[in-house]
Amino acid sequence: MPGSRITALGHYQPSRVLTNDDLAGMVDTSDAWIRRRTGIATRRIAADTESVADMAAAAAAKALAASGLDPSEIGLVTVATCTAVDRCPSTAAQVAGRLGIPSAVAYDLNNGCAGFCTALASADHSVRAGAARHALVIGAEKMSAVTDWTDRSTCVLLGDGAGAAVVSAADEEGIGPVVWGSDPTRADAVRLVDDWHPHFAQEGQTVFRWATGELPAVAREACRRAGLAPAGLAGVVTHQANLRIIESVARQLDLPEGVVVAQDVVDSGNTSAASVPLALAKLTERGELPSGGPVLLLSFGGGLSWAGQVVTC
Ligand code: ACO
Repeated sequence: MPGSRITALGHYQPSRVLTNDDLAGMVDTSDAWIRRRTGIATRRIAADTESVADMAAAAAAKALAASGLDPSEIGLVTVATCTAVDRCPSTAAQVAGRLGIPSAVAYDLNNGCAGFCTALASADHSVRAGAARHALVIGAEKMSAVTDWTDRSTCVLLGDGAGAAVVSAADEEGIGPVVWGSDPTRADAVRLVDDWHPHFAQEGQTVFRWATGELPAVAREACRRAGLAPAGLAGVVTHQANLRIIESVARQLDLPEGVVVAQDVVDSGNTSAASVPLALAKLTERGELPSGGPVLLLSFGGGLSWAGQVVTC
């Protein structure tokens, strides 16, 4: 069966920067605590009027322009999101409309923070099965809209943004086999609680222990299925939730010096399903990933769910 690969990337972040000192003026916290426990220094916050669809379309437009494709060539649009307010029409359908994509199948996918890697695998499967020749895969979130700004344990973590990838049919496999799953015994560890207002809640330590304990095996399995060892990776882009989780996973994979490990969480905070494509697109744009080198994508979050694969782009 022919393969598929990521041929172009794009990203978008709102212009408003929220610093740790800003947050210290809102809740009982400090720049030192946030940096020590999470690694986060800043995050971007969307304007009240800026929607998930706005951010998704902005990132997707950049990826589409970089791909050189005509909008009519896109046969599939997927938006991974858990914060889109509009249920119908889907955010993906809105993006297709704004970008002038005339007839693609367009749908949203909610797998929390694991959404982008899940959508990427689904697009890869669709393209390899011949259901579409070119796909737009987007992760977009407005976490600020589901943040309890009085809760210091969560409001310091979250940010807004979007990342997008164009996936196209290719002679060689550029998207490796996905490793994905979920653990329903921990389904309550990450939630969007909808009482007085929809807001993000999590059992931070449960997720931290689970992520640092389970993800290295998922990463090794994704590498094995792609036919390489972690030492053969050029880069690692995990979900950007906490710098300590990122560093712990990288340490446990015994990565040789020179392997680029994405640390976009420092500037962007946790942008849920947007974090992996955002970090990947920014690293690529800055020329920090060796072209054609294998990069492990690894996402995790509510479910608790995980999805990861090795890509070359
Ligand atoms: N500033 C100051 N103190 C704080 C803050 C804050 N912002 N937040 C919590 N504290 C306090 C707590 O009240 C607690 O005080 P106490 O000891 O007096 O009770 C103390 O700091 C320690 O709190 P913990 O919650 O135990 O802190 P921890 O070191 O676990 O860090 C964190 C919390 C950052 C949330 C961490 O647990 C974490 O990152 N977990 C993983 C989360 C994750 O990966 N989620 C991903 C899935 S969800 C998604 O991505 C959208």
